Amino acid sequence: MDVDTTTTKKWPEIIQGGMGVAISNWKLARAVSRTGQLGVVSGTGIDTVLVRRLQDGDVGGYMRNALAASPWPSLAQKIIDKYFIPNGKLSSQPYQRLPMWTLESSTWLRTVAMLGAFAEVWLAKFDHDGQVGINLLTKLSLPNLAILYGAMNAHVDVVLMGAGIPREIPGAINLLAKNEPASLKCEVVGMKAGEGPSSHFDPRDYDGVRQELHRPAFFPIISSYSLALLMSKKSTGSVEGFIIEGPTAGGHNAPPRGPKKYDESGQSIYDQRDVVDLHAVAALGYPFWLAGGYDSPEGLQSAQAKGATGIQVGTLFAYCEESGMDRKVKKQVIQDIIKHPIHVHTDPFASPTGFPFKVVDVIGSLSDKEVYQNRTRRCDLGYLREAYLDQQNHVQYRCAAEPVHTYLEKDGCIENTVGRKCLCNGLMATAGLSQYQTSTLLEPPIVTSGDGIHKVSELISVNHTTYMAKSVVSYLLGEKR
Ligand SMILES: Cc1cc2nc3c(=O)[nH]c(=O)nc-3n(C[C@H](O)[C@H](O)[C@H](O)COP(=O)(O)O)c2cc1C
Repeated sequence: MDVDTTTTKKWPEIIQGGMGVAISNWKLARAVSRTGQLGVVSGTGIDTVLVRRLQDGDVGGYMRNALAASPWPSLAQKIIDKYFIPNGKLSSQPYQRLPMWTLESSTWLRTVAMLGAFAEVWLAKFDHDGQVGINLLTKLSLPNLAILYGAMNAHVDVVLMGAGIPREIPGAINLLAKNEPASLKCEVVGMKAGEGPSSHFDPRDYDGVRQELHRPAFFPIISSYSLALLMSKKSTGSVEGFIIEGPTAGGHNAPPRGPKKYDESGQSIYDQRDVVDLHAVAALGYPFWLAGGYDSPEGLQSAQAKGATGIQVGTLFAYCEESGMDRKVKKQVIQDIIKHPIHVHTDPFASPTGFPFKVVDVIGSLSDKEVYQNRTRRCDLGYLREAYLDQQNHVQYRCAAEPVHTYLEKDGCIENTVGRKCLCNGLMATAGLSQYQTSTLLEPPIVTSGDGIHKVSELISVNHTTYMAKSVVSYLLGEKR
């Protein structure tokens, strides 16, 4: 695919939104791409996802095949030798963990992230000509360059990034496409914005083929016209389109623009200030897609009537057959949806990032609140840790969902710990990659979805609790099923 910001480019109407961790896996993205729309894999935590799939026995051999196809077969073999367990680990045996990311992370950790992203995109693109994107969270900056480079080596077509302001990403992609070193500024609490240290990635640290790589298109995921303007004028390279995401979308939401206010059930309140000026966005001249509650044929039409190229949809795809959601969790939520209305809570405190995060309140008979009250706090994956300056002026790392006493020892405020949930372990569990912790057995899942989760019932036919990704696409396009 040629990247073309001029009018000749024919972009798809439907983007299947990136859904971490591993909900939008290669199988889902491939299924959507094969329909001619844009399938998107999640790159979040892809290093852990890769090594856990290998420890689960890599059923079907997909990971090993993809790794063998990479430009770094000897590094790939080292990963296989270290993590692959034929027939999978015992369910009562904990997964071997990777070290947590820091500014000084080893070349080994970067290698695993790079190859994890390569494998995910390579598999999503296997055996068809459709376009595939990768989704990353800007806030989780430390692994991002390695993941981008791995994905670009598998010819990813589009990079989509929200949860922060990804101003430096377009320039970094330009450099990585030329196999040149790239850096990203790291936010450090206690240092002025933009004055923190940088994380670095140098493609020349890796053997492999060195021809110039295809430069993917870049779509920031934003929730205001001012951010669209900023990204179009002040990015370090070109932007090819925008995803405009509203507060009903699944996953993390942008915080409300007005003063912090909560309704009687403790949810963030959004108002007129959060409505995006789409005329102004359209006037910037870029293609854009609307996300959050546009998941219907009428939603697509209304988005297009507002000047959008199309829509980005998450929730409907999260529960389809090909998604990476753990089968038991998926089935239970679908059964709940069929039986009674289910509620999604926009929780202002759950995510250690400080962004509101949507959580399905009750799954089966288990309320999310109870599950998390009973969970022993621990931090052993650390993707959402923030960097801060300690009293000796050294950069250290902490997470508001880690054990309260260790967070306080790291100069964290007690208020920040209230209601925080371990999204790293919770989301891995939802993807069927739950860690076996000796004290409390398996880590419990945490399920995120958009406010429009009930629309899943539109896709379910009588006596079925499953549907395919291509049915979602047909439904959205208003085609007869
Ligand atoms: C299960 C789930 C996980 C999500 N994870 C991410 C993510 O990791 N990164 C991201 O940018 N958006 C994420 N999203 C948002 C989707 O990409 C998409 O923009 C959103 O779901 C669209 O709104 P809808 O849920 O009303 O269809 C997630 C959504 C869901 C449902």
